[in-house]
Amino acid sequence: MLKLNGNYLKMPGSYLFAEVARRAAAFSGAHPGADVIKLGIGDVTLPLPRACVDALKRAADEMGSKDTFMGYGPYEGYDFLREAIVEHDYAPYGAKIGADELFISDGAKGDCGNIGDIFSQDCVVAVCDPVYPVYVDANAMSGRAGDFADGRWDNIVYMPCTSDNGFFPALPERVPDLIYLCFPNNPTGMAATREQLRPWVDYANEHGSVILYDAAYRAYMTDPSLPRSIYEIPGAENCAIEFGSFSKTAGFTGTRCGWTVIPRALRRGGESLYDMWMRHQSTKYNGTSYVIQRAAEAVYSPEGQAQVAEMIGYYMENARVIRQGLSAAGLETYGGSDSPYIWFRAPEGQDSWSFFDRLLSEAQVVTTPGSGFGPSGEGFIRVTAFGDAARTREAVERIKSIL
Ligand code: MLT
Repeated sequence: MLKLNGNYLKMPGSYLFAEVARRAAAFSGAHPGADVIKLGIGDVTLPLPRACVDALKRAADEMGSKDTFMGYGPYEGYDFLREAIVEHDYAPYGAKIGADELFISDGAKGDCGNIGDIFSQDCVVAVCDPVYPVYVDANAMSGRAGDFADGRWDNIVYMPCTSDNGFFPALPERVPDLIYLCFPNNPTGMAATREQLRPWVDYANEHGSVILYDAAYRAYMTDPSLPRSIYEIPGAENCAIEFGSFSKTAGFTGTRCGWTVIPRALRRGGESLYDMWMRHQSTKYNGTSYVIQRAAEAVYSPEGQAQVAEMIGYYMENARVIRQGLSAAGLETYGGSDSPYIWFRAPEGQDSWSFFDRLLSEAQVVTTPGSGFGPSGEGFIRVTAFGDAARTREAVERIKSIL
């Protein structure tokens, strides 16, 4: 008899943002006139930068002419985009990454989940708690998480990130093979310093672990002293894989483009992880389309850079409005200064889903419940700064009015 992947059958409920969307839709269905403001999933609301749209159109025209038409692209992505990423996102920060160490992807989410394919099912995985649910769910689907009970998987190493440790994890006692780190962090909105990251790189090199570093929110760092990439930390080229994305940097959540860096120096068991990922990608993936890669390249043009800076400034002003408004209302609030997420403690010890439901029913504001990101997220709520500015101000006023 055909057997299913039993790991899927162990998964609790639905994907976090699917459940948030389900509850928001149920509320709107029951209250057709309600004016609901969505600050739940971190989806952007501004249109693509003009430079990207123009590049997309030019590339579409190229696809319509026999002389310039492009068929299958390189599995690792076109050189023009890989070189632009290195020139603008790595070289200026002293990160010695070559274009031949990058793979263009359709965004960080897929690669963060699929990278597990090149590692054994026996690998022990460590995650920050709370954490972007993709890392945990993808490893659970691959059989690395063990069994789920009381809100946690028994074979995942959870590294609590709480107000007591400044939302930065301590090095774990049980040594993991794979360590997911994400800074600026989703969901807490906290960024990491060089001094905080250095011991992680040393620890991974000492124990042979691999750090899976998600830098999807790097464009939101305002403090120039903060590292934009794990490769700014000496030795990271021997122990870290990094994921980058145009989703939040340039509004590509629907357009889809990102990248993964696997340094040539990164080897385990004598094998090159770059070569293994190339084997994976060339077997299972035919690349991000040419037109999208041209649109992403335009992010780095002078016009693109100016338009992206304006877009990020708009969202960061939202972040300031949310953070200041909620703090002034007496809420314990974090993040929002080097990140587009604001993380706050629900008042009066309410649990995350109860306060989420209250915000939805009484303020008609959709947020994300902290407990959906892991056990240590219980009692917290995440708000995104990616909304419309006027609607964001309105949401903050509504939240304040129900406190
Ligand atoms: C989030 O809200 O955490 C993100 O938008 C999800 C994602 O990037 O996939």
